[in-house]
Amino acid sequence: MCPPEHFTVEYAINPWMDTTVAVDAARALTQWESLRTTLVNLGHLVHVLDARPGLPDMVYSANGAFSVDGTVYGARFLYPQRADEASAHQAFYDTDSAWKFVAPQHVNEGEGDFAYLPAAYGGIVLAGYGFRTDPAAHAEAQEVLGRPVISLRLVDPAFYHLDTALAALDDRHVTYYPAAFSAASQRVLAQLFPDAVLADRADAEAFGLNLVSDGRHVILNTDAVGMGHKVRDAGYQPVHVDLSELKRGGGSVKCAVAELRA
Ligand code: ARG
Repeated sequence: MCPPEHFTVEYAINPWMDTTVAVDAARALTQWESLRTTLVNLGHLVHVLDARPGLPDMVYSANGAFSVDGTVYGARFLYPQRADEASAHQAFYDTDSAWKFVAPQHVNEGEGDFAYLPAAYGGIVLAGYGFRTDPAAHAEAQEVLGRPVISLRLVDPAFYHLDTALAALDDRHVTYYPAAFSAASQRVLAQLFPDAVLADRADAEAFGLNLVSDGRHVILNTDAVGMGHKVRDAGYQPVHVDLSELKRGGGSVKCAVAELRA
């Protein structure tokens, strides 16, 4: 995680960002801290990356890389405003030789557009494209990580990253909002995950799919009331955290957490 110490909305690269409304920086930091504390209290180890001035979106640390079993596929951001975040993440992995870091050739926004399901079909990667990540990065990720990568086309600009439209609930189960995907990609998801928890537009707009799950607890923001009920009905324990300020940048819980799959 990376604290929102320099968080602002000073450019708009997704439909949620409104540069005319000021962000409450102190509130953003308090909310971020409550997310970090929630994860720690659930027993998780959280590393904190230093925020860098001039990188207001760095709080969305999920975009900085994608790791599977100790191999890290680095990010390459689409927009120049975020480009320098990639090296900050690389530096984190480079300090520990247990990680094998691979720099990317193609544009990809890390866990924003990649999800890993270790127990589905022996371990598969789901990958989004259409707004940020170049589909060429999907093939590159498959070569780097040695896991099948399933390409899914995102079609709604409001759900511009895979992690705004789909989430892993545990090692093999997913939840997603079908209409965020092309008809063909919906067909692919239905075939692979016939038992998925389906979300609706209200869930997705509340950033209810932008969740982090440890397989038992599902951490999601307080607006995502309906999604909380759905995950509870599916046997998980919802844990709500207020992240209203981070929503102004177009992100929520998942965007703020880069998962380290050592
Ligand atoms: N303002 C950021 C952007 O548009 C938000 C990124 C949200 N992160 C995520 N994993 N969806 O790039």
